Amino acid sequence: MNYAQIVGWGYAVPSRVMTNLELEKMVDTTDEWIRSRTGIVERRIAGPKETTSSLGIRAAQHALQVADLSPSKLDLVIVATTSPDYPMPSSAAIVQDGIGATKAGAFDLNAACSGFVYALSVGSGLIASGQYENILIVGADTLSRWVDWTDRATCVLFGDGAGAFVLQKTDSPTGLRSCVLGSDGSGVNALLVPAGGTKSPISLEQIQNRQNFIKMKGPEVYRFAVNVMVQAARQALSAAEMSVDDIDLFIPHQANIRIIQSAMKALKIPPEKVFTNVQHYGNTSAASIPIALCEAIAEGRVHQGSHLALVGFGAGLSWGAAVLHWGVSTTSVPETWWKSMVRNVQTQEEALRLFALKAHRRLELAGLDAFRRLSNGHDA
Ligand SMILES: CC(C)(COP(=O)(O)OP(=O)(O)OC[C@H]1O[C@@H](n2cnc3c(N)ncnc32)[C@H](O)[C@@H]1OP(=O)(O)O)[C@@H](O)C(=O)NCCC(=O)NCCS
Repeated sequence: MNYAQIVGWGYAVPSRVMTNLELEKMVDTTDEWIRSRTGIVERRIAGPKETTSSLGIRAAQHALQVADLSPSKLDLVIVATTSPDYPMPSSAAIVQDGIGATKAGAFDLNAACSGFVYALSVGSGLIASGQYENILIVGADTLSRWVDWTDRATCVLFGDGAGAFVLQKTDSPTGLRSCVLGSDGSGVNALLVPAGGTKSPISLEQIQNRQNFIKMKGPEVYRFAVNVMVQAARQALSAAEMSVDDIDLFIPHQANIRIIQSAMKALKIPPEKVFTNVQHYGNTSAASIPIALCEAIAEGRVHQGSHLALVGFGAGLSWGAAVLHWGVSTTSVPETWWKSMVRNVQTQEEALRLFALKAHRRLELAGLDAFRRLSNGHDA
């Protein structure tokens, strides 16, 4: 039987920190209001040249390094995002090119803030089926670009970032133990960006009405979030035939500390078993669970044999919960000089291969163009 083991992890956040005090100068809010209602103290905001894919590429490079895997060994790149670089093509294609995953397929997956749990489920399933051996899953979002910086009810909540994980085929029973994915599309209006899609293409009127930004019914989403986190966590635990006591660490979607505390209280999970970093990053959407998991690993809270529960929720409305058995050591071994040299050579090789591929495409196009001009000359 095949199992999908997590063998690499990494995250990337913009260096620009935006504090609540800074927001006080932009909208009618206070540090005290934001802290007490959400737990958020600061968030990271992408610089003008940073995008969902550029953050995803940085996170993926870290994950490949930890996995000690050449990007050419990847079979598939999945990017969970709700804020892609372009409406088309996918941000996954840009990540695939950026890391030199020359033999991988690539696609985006949009399940909003639940996206990472969805990607984990899809990636693990494709490995368990025997179709693929190495899959990169990335959760990345740059919601600062969708946020209305004049709307105090939403602009204080979100931040940017990316987290990436390498899944690898193994025959030892590890990885995903259970997964619950859910959707309630009747709640589409609770949290959405109304314009910019095919229903309401971007127009001057839409921009003037600020319809190209996130609109949210805060209290409605709050109630949904608490209920669905409790339900989905219970279902995932029951599917894995486990109880709360069997879980070493809960990693909930980092949207609001009050949502997390209410859900964890209802589940009777003690605070020391819950990882939170919402205070530093705000809600980074599909990146929130993978960034939290990476930080939990760095803090020594995940070990070989640990059982983890991940619970996400978001626009859609969507939700996802998973129980994971962690199969590898999390103690980082310093990279030897020769390993680093081999990796550099492999990276150079991939860069060369990509360069050749792009040059070939340019030559083909130039040839086609010359042929067209020639045949047009003949016709004339
Ligand atoms: C957004 C949220 C923090 C608002 O908290 P709340 O206690 O529900 O607050 P309300 O929306 O009821 O608003 C209460 C008051 O605070 C005001 N308010 C809203 N944002 C504010 C801000 N940033 N600063 C100061 N006051 C604010 C409102 O205007 C309202 O004022 P009013 O009573 O005079 O009308 C909360 O609803 C929430 O976290 N919802 C879920 C959001 C979420 O997680 N979304 C992402 C899902 S992936």
